Amino acid sequence: MSEKLKVGILGGTGMVGQRFISLLENHPWFEVAAIAASPRSAGKTYEEAVGGRWKMDTPMPEAVKNLIVLNVNDVEHVASQVDFVFSAVDMTKDEIKKIEEAYAKTETPVVSNNSAHRWTPDVPMMVPEINPEHAAVIESQKKRLGTKRGFVAVKPNCSIQSYAPVLTAWKEFEPYEVVATTYQAISGAGKTFADWPEMVGNIIPYIGGEEEKSEKEPLRLWGKVEDGVIVPAQSPVITCQCIRVPVLNGHTAAVFVKFKKKPTKEELIDRLVHFSGEPQRLELPSAPKQFIQYLEEDNRPQVALDVNYENGMGISVGRLREDTVYDWKFVGLSHNTVRGAAGGAVLCAELLKAQGYITKK
Ligand SMILES: NC(=O)c1ccc[n+]([C@@H]2O[C@H](COP(=O)([O-])OP(=O)(O)OC[C@H]3O[C@@H](n4cnc5c(N)ncnc54)[C@H](OP(=O)(O)O)[C@@H]3O)[C@@H](O)[C@H]2O)c1
Repeated sequence: MSEKLKVGILGGTGMVGQRFISLLENHPWFEVAAIAASPRSAGKTYEEAVGGRWKMDTPMPEAVKNLIVLNVNDVEHVASQVDFVFSAVDMTKDEIKKIEEAYAKTETPVVSNNSAHRWTPDVPMMVPEINPEHAAVIESQKKRLGTKRGFVAVKPNCSIQSYAPVLTAWKEFEPYEVVATTYQAISGAGKTFADWPEMVGNIIPYIGGEEEKSEKEPLRLWGKVEDGVIVPAQSPVITCQCIRVPVLNGHTAAVFVKFKKKPTKEELIDRLVHFSGEPQRLELPSAPKQFIQYLEEDNRPQVALDVNYENGMGISVGRLREDTVYDWKFVGLSHNTVRGAAGGAVLCAELLKAQGYITKK
């Protein structure tokens, strides 16, 4: 019998679900044992259910083509086939909250890409390089849910991954005021240019709910565990504009920062390239070896050249220069559906397995 943990993908037919399926092909620790989606897809083979909607560059893995898609709402049935699940369903926030807790209550850990539980006080929201210690709140969550091994853990929004790791690397210089503008890819809306032709040569200055997430979520990452819940940090204050641009994959951020302790350029670059965390120490399978790269060329980072850095799990930074109003400014880039969605969730699950929270049933 395989020693790998059996994983289910809730919302496995969607854009993020497909990214999970691709990333988990040949994963050394996890194997896809169940795929669940809406009642529209349930009962069909995965290949039939996805049909022409396969949006990845690589072919659909053979191992999943003939899996029969299950109904996400048949919680007990799906849960009985797996050790844990990744969640990427698109339902209302309340429905997602409920269904993710229902899975947890069947003693099935849920690692979610969705925003529904990001502010539930005893749910850890993790970027494994930044706040692996937040997993400790799982113990109080399990008490609330009445479970032994079931819990929900989440990853933060894709938009913050191009600057939150950078600000974390610079923590010792005490950044206190940040202005960020994000230039976000259309795959963040689950779209390609074929499904959203209006985006060709276009810019849309609105992404619903995104600015609030981009301003607030980093503070929760930098929060502390107190009495079994996460207490968000108070600073730096972040203000953000989020703009949809005609790019398929890759969120770019242009960022201005004020620091209490004034760093030199050399110090800032040094802290970026030496920043690493638990995933690197534990050599987790999806961990980038070098989490943040600094590019000296004036025309980098570029989506076309840099989005796949470290298989889409690394962050690329460039254009660090002094500013006349703020102290320093820079440009950051990350892959929104890899580091920002499915890849970030897979890395969280690897960390949770290494920490002993996800085990075989
Ligand atoms: N795209 C990104 O980069 C990104 C990044 C971060 C977070 N997210 C979030 O991740 C979630 C999935 O995004 P996506 O872009 O992958 O969406 P998507 O391509 O529209 O896929 C949605 C998935 O949810 C299922 N679904 C839809 N309605 C359902 C219902 N009423 N009951 C059960 N299942 C249902 C779909 O099943 P069928 O195929 O059967 O319809 C499909 O598997 C969303 O909440 C989104 O906000 C996306």
